[in-house]
Amino acid sequence: MKRVLIGLAVLFLFFQTACQSQEELKKEKYFVEGYQLYTEHCANCHQTDGKGLEALYPPINGSDYLKNKEKVICLIRFGQNEPITVNGKRFSRPMPANPQLTDIDVAAITTYIYNKWGDETVISDVKEVSRVLDVCRDQQKP
Ligand code: HEC
Repeated sequence: MKRVLIGLAVLFLFFQTACQSQEELKKEKYFVEGYQLYTEHCANCHQTDGKGLEALYPPINGSDYLKNKEKVICLIRFGQNEPITVNGKRFSRPMPANPQLTDIDVAAITTYIYNKWGDETVISDVKEVSRVLDVCRDQQKP
């Protein structure tokens, strides 16, 4: 009996660590892809360190606007053309849309910016990101 219990405990621990590392791997993948996509599509304006460019492009690093996560997910895909306030400063240039980014791309970029600059330690899963994008797409229809 004791052996069986020890065996079960070992099995339990084994599966638990296996699951954890699956999650870790997934996050690592999202983060690395997000970093590459950010470098390619966002760093021109928001800069590699995410601090933005003076009065032209708002910072993402340390931005209080990140609390509007659904808006952020949508602006990555659809762009934005209304003035916003970030950390008390007003920005009024439009941000271009990125229709070429897939839902997974947007999820990876969101994971990257929120883990790097937004105090998050979890992934922004593509399922959730797709749901948010669908809502915004419907809202954009005339
Ligand atoms: C051509 C320059 C440009 C590019 C490229 C660009 N942005 Fe922006 N971004 C802006 C501007 C300008 C605003 C302010 C928009 C407004 O006032 O409505 C903005 C706003 C934002 C905001 C909300 C405000 C803040 O700083 O927290 C986030 C988040 C953001 N961009 C992320 C991204 C991401 C991620 C990418 C890459 C997919 C990207 N941007 C690509 C110019 C750009």
